[in-house]
Amino acid sequence: MVTLGEGSTPLVRADRLSERFGVDLWLKLEGMNPTGSFKDRGMAVAVTRALAAGAPGVVCASTGNTAASAAAYAARAGLDCVIAHAAGAVAAGKIAQVRAVGARLLEVDGSFEDAFAASVELAERDGYTVVNSTNPDRLEGQKTAAFEVLDELGGTPDVLALPYGGGGNTTAYALGFAERGASLRLLPVQAAERARTFASAIRITAPVHSEEVETALARFGGEVVTVGEDELLDAWRLVAREEGVFCEPASAAGIAAVARGGVDPGARVVCVLTGHGLKDPGAVELLDR
Ligand code: F0G
Repeated sequence: MVTLGEGSTPLVRADRLSERFGVDLWLKLEGMNPTGSFKDRGMAVAVTRALAAGAPGVVCASTGNTAASAAAYAARAGLDCVIAHAAGAVAAGKIAQVRAVGARLLEVDGSFEDAFAASVELAERDGYTVVNSTNPDRLEGQKTAAFEVLDELGGTPDVLALPYGGGGNTTAYALGFAERGASLRLLPVQAAERARTFASAIRITAPVHSEEVETALARFGGEVVTVGEDELLDAWRLVAREEGVFCEPASAAGIAAVARGGVDPGARVVCVLTGHGLKDPGAVELLDR
């Protein structure tokens, strides 16, 4: 088992924001994972299985967090690791993490989708395992976050709100909740400006799991919420300044959905804060505007 001690992240109550929004709000701090994002849960499983299968290495396309996670777990496993990313689209902290552990960066002149196509091609050529969320082992690992939410809360929340990039995480939570027979509303929150949002982690125009997200919403109830750049920025500032929680910009998407009144008064809501604020130090300048 290739592990760095992922999972068992804190679930903390947001007292001030609960009062402000008239709900019972909890924050799942996924930035506390070993590489600073939720990706580690699934990467532990995917890299363990790639190693067991005898793959010479792993490859992924990424907006940065999958990259940092794949690179770290590959280093731990003694596997080669190649990261394809859209040129200029990855936050500084994430690039630093990849370089530190010695993975190779392949800069693609194009979008996230172009980078994904490049990694699939490379995997076919060299026999590397693709460790994007299209790899089912990733989702099997990520679903453990749903188990933790139920266990830490000692019950089922009314609503789970989280950022929606490719939709892998929403799909993974749905898997976990379904496995426990839990029923709650899901609010996957996407940026209106998917192609150029300042929340670079979710700068993805064609979500690969969109059908699974729709299936999950049909089963659990809930809806995709679309938020503007200002809403995202306000939510990010609010969770930092009112609760002392510094997450990365994309991670505040769930808060933005609550802020716009997307949940019933008094509801018990869990917002998944998917990545640590130190991932994207450059974005902090925007907070003072
Ligand atoms: N939050 C953060 C911090 C992310 O890095 C991502 C996705 C998401 C939310 C969205 O999750 O794609 O499962 O809906 N990051 C991927 C990456 C795309 O390459 O690191 P999703």
